[in-house]
Amino acid sequence: MTGRVPLALVEIGASAGLNLYWDRYRYEYDGHRLCGDPDSPVRIASAVRGKRDPPLPPSPPNVAVRVGIDLNPLDVTDPDDARWLRALVIPDQRERHERLASAIDLVRERSPDIVAGDALDTLPDVLDRLPENGIACVYSTLTTYQLGENGVADLEEVLADRGRKRTIHWLSDDLFAERDRPIYRHVALSDDDRIETRLAEYESYGQWTRWIASPGYSSTGCVGSSG
Ligand SMILES: C[S@@+](CC[C@H](N)C(=O)[O-])C[C@H]1O[C@@H](n2cnc3c(N)ncnc32)[C@H](O)[C@@H]1O
Repeated sequence: MTGRVPLALVEIGASAGLNLYWDRYRYEYDGHRLCGDPDSPVRIASAVRGKRDPPLPPSPPNVAVRVGIDLNPLDVTDPDDARWLRALVIPDQRERHERLASAIDLVRERSPDIVAGDALDTLPDVLDRLPENGIACVYSTLTTYQLGENGVADLEEVLADRGRKRTIHWLSDDLFAERDRPIYRHVALSDDDRIETRLAEYESYGQWTRWIASPGYSSTGCVGSSG
């Protein structure tokens, strides 16, 4: 949707920053074209459920800047932090361990920029420092449940406030979705408008996704509305 306009990424709950480099990973959606970086050592395979084809781009979007925010940032170059990340993965899930090891190797060479602090306090300043010519994209995985309902409402207020200066694209799971049907969604906040699109149902570790947004969604484009 971005054309070639670069993204200015902000991840909330970035932990060690592994998800800040999602465009450097290789994605294999069964029955669909390869996505991401085909030569990446980090390989993610996901089954596609349902009747709708996910609108997969021929190449990853350009990324101008990537900033993470976390209450407790981890540093993959610190052996203790890397061990802690490994300890969080269930021991017999070999594939996840291999994927984590290759992502740690990839991120170790990149020194991600991760701001320590509560996203609700630090986000306004982080957003103000983003380059003006990028598309502001705030996202998170497995973090909204830690913010809680009040935290998510406060977060949306911060995003809506900054959305009066430039369009903010917010991608996250929907905390209010049914527990056994997680939903990932896109909320575009601009002036006082709020446009929400439910994108996909998914398994939390990406084993499968079911694209649910209408086919017109991917051609609506961010570029014209990036402010
Ligand atoms: C379950 S982990 C998910 C980490 C990573 N996003 C992932 O998908 O593996 C949730 C992360 O959110 C961070 N977090 C929780 N509340 C936060 C807040 N208010 N501000 C910033 N980070 C927060 C935690 O420190 C933790 O690293």
